[in-house]
Amino acid sequence: MKDITVAIDGFSSTGKSTIAKQLAKKLEYVYVDSGAMYRAVTLYAMQHQLISNTFFYKDKLISVLDIISLKFKFNTDLGFAEIYLNDINVEKEIRNIEVSEFVSKVAEISEVRRKLVEQQQQFGTNKRVVMDGRDIGTVVFPNAELKIFMNASAKKRAQRRFEELTKRGDKVTFDEILKNIEYRDYIDSTRKDSPLIKANDAIEIDNSEMTIDEQFEKIYTIVINKINSLK
Ligand code: DC
Repeated sequence: MKDITVAIDGFSSTGKSTIAKQLAKKLEYVYVDSGAMYRAVTLYAMQHQLISNTFFYKDKLISVLDIISLKFKFNTDLGFAEIYLNDINVEKEIRNIEVSEFVSKVAEISEVRRKLVEQQQQFGTNKRVVMDGRDIGTVVFPNAELKIFMNASAKKRAQRRFEELTKRGDKVTFDEILKNIEYRDYIDSTRKDSPLIKANDAIEIDNSEMTIDEQFEKIYTIVINKINSLK
């Protein structure tokens, strides 16, 4: 089977990471969650009082980018790689609603994007990677053999996110999650640098009415057909 790169982009909470993890496992590829990298830089900014509801010291954050180290380490129990910020596992912390509230602001900064895109491209030098994000098919891997663009209604996405966060014990309301999703959709798709747009050659999947299994069947078939067509 030919080795390929699979780029999965789409709006927040469209289930990109769920399908990306499933595909990576089945194909024995590496899964890279690019959003986790933007979230980890945001967490760093929060921990160092560089961002809050009332201030954002952008230049200071840019000046310390070189000392922010991001690594992924495979967790055999979970079956995917977790993210480490300066050698500390922050996989759970970066999913908090507070990080979600600030991350779009951090992801707008070109210097941040340049640093993270460079690292993401290194992960893909040998192909056999499934990466999800917002600009994977357009900026990180414009030559990816397969590009998927995920979509679903904002309400459906908020409902799924609400269930996920309440299940793990976070105190959140449906309304605040819906607002956060709509806000991130807006910033992600209107920012100047690498806005979220569907690549011309991406295949769009709306999973509003699909179960996780149905989604996997559909996308896995697309992947296999693509690999077979390249033989
Ligand atoms: O996929 P996610 O929700 O964990 O991503 C968090 C934020 O990071 C998202 O609001 C936009 C940003 N992001 C980005 O700008 N580019 C990417 N490739 C991935 C995420």
